[in-house]
Amino acid sequence: MATLELKYYPAAILKRKAEPVVDFDEGLQKTIEDMAETMYVENGIGLAAPQVGISKRLFVMDVPPNAEGEDGTGLVALINPEIIASEGTIVWEEGCLSFPTMVAEVKRAHTLTVRYQNPAGEWCERDASELEAVCIQHEQDHLNGVTFVDYLSPLKRTLLLRDLKKKLTEMGVRVA
Ligand code: CO
Repeated sequence: MATLELKYYPAAILKRKAEPVVDFDEGLQKTIEDMAETMYVENGIGLAAPQVGISKRLFVMDVPPNAEGEDGTGLVALINPEIIASEGTIVWEEGCLSFPTMVAEVKRAHTLTVRYQNPAGEWCERDASELEAVCIQHEQDHLNGVTFVDYLSPLKRTLLLRDLKKKLTEMGVRVA
C-alpha cells in the first residue's frame, strides 16, 4: 500500500465530473487500498478518488461508531454510487481533506439509500443516516465536481477560503 498525494482546493480536478469505473480489476483493488491508507493517515472518514487525482466515480469511507454506541461502518468502498432515495434534513459541521482545518455547517438529507458496486463489481444497496449519510452525500458530491463550499453563502465562502489560503501557504502548498 502507498499513500496518495492529496489535491487541495482549488485544484481543477475537484471541479470536474468524474468518469464511471468500468474495470473491476487488480488496478482498482490497489487504488482502493491506497485511498484507504491515505484516508487513515490523514484522519479522514471519507475520501473520494478525485481528491487524490483520480477522476473516477468511487470513494472510500470508514465512519466511526456514534455517541449512541451504534457500530461504525468499517472500511467500505463505494463504486459508481448513486443516491436513490433520501429524506429529512440534518445540519452537520463538515470538514474535507481537500480543505485542511476548514469546517462549515452544511444542510443534508438525514437518511438515504445509496446503490453502488462493490470491488467485485456486484451491485449493492446501503441505508444510512446521520453522520454516515452526511459522509456519503459529501463524497458523492466530489464525484460530480461539487465541494461543501458550494453550499455556503458567498460571504461565508470568501471568508473561509481566505483562511484556507493562509493555511495552505503555511503548509507549503502552492496556491493558484
Ligand atoms: Co471532501
